[in-house]
Amino acid sequence: MNDAHAAPRSVGVVVVAAGSGTRLGADVPKAFVQVAGRSLLSYAVERVTQVAHLARLVIVVPEGHGTATALGDVAPVPEGTVVLPGGAERTDSVRAGLAEVGEVDIVLIHDAARAFTPVAVFDRVVAAVAAGASGAVPGLPVVDTIKAVDADGTITGTPDRAGLRAVQTPQGFDAEVLRAAYASGLGATDDAALVETLGHHVRVVAGDPLAFKVTTPEDLARAQRLVASWAASVD
Ligand code: C5P
Repeated sequence: MNDAHAAPRSVGVVVVAAGSGTRLGADVPKAFVQVAGRSLLSYAVERVTQVAHLARLVIVVPEGHGTATALGDVAPVPEGTVVLPGGAERTDSVRAGLAEVGEVDIVLIHDAARAFTPVAVFDRVVAAVAAGASGAVPGLPVVDTIKAVDADGTITGTPDRAGLRAVQTPQGFDAEVLRAAYASGLGATDDAALVETLGHHVRVVAGDPLAFKVTTPEDLARAQRLVASWAASVD
């Protein structure tokens, strides 16, 4: 019996949490904004620690946030977890995290701001890469009609909504492919785009509305309602 595909593959996860979150208007970096007495980062890490075959966790935090501050309410984290400072742009933070992820087969890049992403989404991404995709990202069907516009706001095209997905994180990759993509010196708006640019196949797997990104005060209010509803359901 050939069970090569069933063999467990080691997974490294980089949680990027080094953004300032200016659109949220909070007085602390976004990952440290509190929801029901816990940081967004702590919710994100709680889920990441449940990922199957997790071999390495790297948490990228804003400059000046030491391990104790960063992990204050995150513990317990797996032994060997690395906390390090990020950079000015998200790609700088990913690059810094990637350098510390070590020898793993699959790397997931996850936004701390998508703090409530269910573990099942991580599992779907890992499964797609383990099954042979160079990369896999969670995505949801687009409900709005999307218009392409020029600099004047004139519509230049209307892509067929059926072929569009709004993508989330974690974005997962064959570790060697992602390292090569970052070493290429090319720029891109997200990690998948960088890998796509190099001609690799990246698949979209089913995302989840709970993987929403906390960006605005309205998103934070949604996060607070969500956690309150969970608390109420266990009372
Ligand atoms: O700003 P935005 O919410 O799009 O950032 C997505 C994720 O990237 C967040 O979790 C944020 O903390 C992280 N980030 C980072 N370093 C930056 C900018 C953003 O780690 N320089």
